[in-house]
Amino acid sequence: MSDKLIIFDTTLRDGEQSPGASMTRDEKLRIARQLERLKVDVIEAGFAASSPGDFDCVQAIANTIKDATICSLARANERDIERAAQALKGARRARIHTFIATSALHMEKKLRMTPEQVFEQARQSVRLARNVCPDVEFSPEDGYRSDFDFLCRVLEAVIDAGASTVNIPDTVGYAVPELYGNFIRALRERVPNADKAIWSVHCHNDLGMAVANSLAGVKIGGARQVECTINGLGERAGNCSLEEVVMAVRTRRDYFGLDVGVDATQIVPASRMVSLITGFVVQPNKAVVGANAFAHASGIHQDGVLKARDTYEIMRAEDVGWSANKIVLGKLSGRNAFKQRLQDLGIELGSETEVNSAFAAFKELADRKSDIFDEDILALCSDESVSAEKEQYGLVSLAQHSETGERPQAHVVFTIDGREYQGRADGNGPVDASLKAIETHVKSGAELLLYSVNAITSGSTESQGEVTVRLQHGGRVVNGVGADPDIVVASAKAYLSALNKLHSKAERVAAQG
Ligand code: KIV
Ligand code: ZN
Repeated sequence: MSDKLIIFDTTLRDGEQSPGASMTRDEKLRIARQLERLKVDVIEAGFAASSPGDFDCVQAIANTIKDATICSLARANERDIERAAQALKGARRARIHTFIATSALHMEKKLRMTPEQVFEQARQSVRLARNVCPDVEFSPEDGYRSDFDFLCRVLEAVIDAGASTVNIPDTVGYAVPELYGNFIRALRERVPNADKAIWSVHCHNDLGMAVANSLAGVKIGGARQVECTINGLGERAGNCSLEEVVMAVRTRRDYFGLDVGVDATQIVPASRMVSLITGFVVQPNKAVVGANAFAHASGIHQDGVLKARDTYEIMRAEDVGWSANKIVLGKLSGRNAFKQRLQDLGIELGSETEVNSAFAAFKELADRKSDIFDEDILALCSDESVSAEKEQYGLVSLAQHSETGERPQAHVVFTIDGREYQGRADGNGPVDASLKAIETHVKSGAELLLYSVNAITSGSTESQGEVTVRLQHGGRVVNGVGADPDIVVASAKAYLSALNKLHSKAERVAAQG
């Protein structure tokens, strides 16, 4: 059996299914480039048949990324498989990932199909997919809760039909490690042609065991592919977290005995990028990528680490990319130094116009904040004003007045489709007043689900505030992110960014739909 563990990243597909995590084409391309730098083996770029927007994203990623296999999800039907194949045409290495539910509950209540119909559809779809793509993966959705004998029949049939990877999802996060590991092993022992395919695990985190289950699937079950997302992004409690699986296998190579091709020094930059783009903040105590993951607060621990690092550290912060947190540029830095830093950080701005806008934003920030960190540059390049893509809403200026005992007032100047508007309002606080001032013209009718502020870099009140705003309207949930040393300005930027997403035409169809 191979001793390489394949890392299949589904941040852009299953991760994006998380409410509010939908991304623009530009954002997906940026994440795909970072995943390429991270050297993941497979990038699931989206679900081509779900919408023209998703098709376009899969196609753009397939045409851009050279080093990883690019995969599109497809339901087990002819149209989905054709759309996936079309979108993947430009890829150096393409994979179609087709799926259909196999649990009694899903077949009866959701699909309203008999097991025999599902069996035939799975087999036919894999055959179809193999005719248009040499690399085909099959997933029995809700596989872990499926009847064991039926699942074995389906898996044998799809491997016979040409599936080179079979993936066993714990779609609802119901598994526990030992049982899931044994389940994968039992499947591999029972399915007669099991050795003709790579076995893959796909675990959701509803009981907080996605990583443990995936690792058990590898260790006990013999799976050689893990499906995972950056920061564990995903629907409900999320998916298996890439950084945790990779660092577990790497740190405990003595136990797992497996190699992963990932460049771990790109983990923290990937985590920061996904968090900034989606607005899903990483909890400080999150393993590997949380702000406190390598911080030692107690005196005993600090003393130990100073004497010998391995007294309390099993990984080195710099090995997962934490060394990026340093002062890089200041007010006097020139355009070339700035461009070089963008390159070092792996940020590829599309055009010289975008570099110019980013440099102007950097100069403006450097006037207000003496030390510019890598995180500041990442946030700045995520700002919509830097992007060449014309957004519907943009901030021009904001003035607000607040005084103890007085009701705060805000005056916001912003653009809608290039035309300038001014809004004035008062509110409970300056943020409330500013968002109300925007709403005097926009009248979005959106419900504010979440408002949160974070410091981009720790340790100083000079740090930029990073604000996330989550809005809901007409069944859609979107996140907007804005960064600025002034958190009221950051809030207005985040609100406008959320409105841009809310009013973008790129709607998605849920993969399970
Ligand atoms: O969780 C799941 O079942 C999935 C499949 C579509 C692979 O994401
Ligand atoms: Zn999933």
